[in-house]
Amino acid sequence: MPNAQPSVLSWGHRYVMVRPDHFRIDYAINPYMDLAVQPDAHRAMAQWVDLVRTIERLGGEVEVVPQREDAPDMVYAMNLGLGVLRPDGTGLVSGHVVMSHMRFAERRMESQTAGPWFERSGRTTSYVGRDGVGAHLEAGDVFAWGDALVAGYGPRTEELALKHLATDLGVRVRGVRITHPAMYHLDLAFCPLDDRHAMVAPGAFDAPSARALLDLVPEPLVLTDQEALTTFCANSIVIDRTVVMPAGGPSRVIEELGAWGFEVVEVDLSEFHKGGGSIRCLTNPVDVTLGRDVPLVAGGEVLVPPLG
Ligand code: ARG
Repeated sequence: MPNAQPSVLSWGHRYVMVRPDHFRIDYAINPYMDLAVQPDAHRAMAQWVDLVRTIERLGGEVEVVPQREDAPDMVYAMNLGLGVLRPDGTGLVSGHVVMSHMRFAERRMESQTAGPWFERSGRTTSYVGRDGVGAHLEAGDVFAWGDALVAGYGPRTEELALKHLATDLGVRVRGVRITHPAMYHLDLAFCPLDDRHAMVAPGAFDAPSARALLDLVPEPLVLTDQEALTTFCANSIVIDRTVVMPAGGPSRVIEELGAWGFEVVEVDLSEFHKGGGSIRCLTNPVDVTLGRDVPLVAGGEVLVPPLG
């Protein structure tokens, strides 16, 4: 039904963000990070405030977590954990966060602050692994899409974490294997737009996973590696029919989004590109609702494409 009116994403109206009081490049755990190229603290704060104001102007809400002094990457709040809402069937909705268990020790202390913060905010928390023991999970690898959570694994999240996630939440998890070192999180290569459209950079994945992901998207906006890597355009967020995109997005992509009825608002996050992240990485949506945005599946289920 190519002419069916797509419904907007029902999630993406509430975000957790970390105020960049201590954003630096102290180590290099992805190909973008270079200790010789440090962010300008004032410019970074101004860009971050601009992003918060843009989200609020579009009707979104932002909850702010203070940044640990010793955790310069904590600004990339998407990776703190996977937030969901669980309706209990009687009209009550509770928040839950499956905490990330970062691949690199340099980021693991973030959970020690974020876990208690989520608890104080009224949410429950669970862990797939902690302090280096157990499966690694980084929430920037996980999106609600279609009949499942789609989870990228490889550079950061481990395949075993998908099993934990599916069992813990009682949902289907569809794994896709990431092989590109510079698209090390799913959110650098995949961006849900509405219930039919998503941006996809197939070059991030091995061939069976690229095919599997494209098969899940009725109308994909296929990005070249060049588009995804140099502009971070897949690292956009979507609030109803507005795409908030890192400034300098490819005009071809912006035009295509316009043709599908999206307004594109550009925000300059160039200081944060120095750490290897942009808009999606800085914002963690906590209103994905189980049973609405992701169907419940008794016992959970993991589906992964064959090895490429
Ligand atoms: N420097 C951070 C890291 O390598 C960047 C995280 C980007 N976040 C994201 N959700 N893609 O972990």
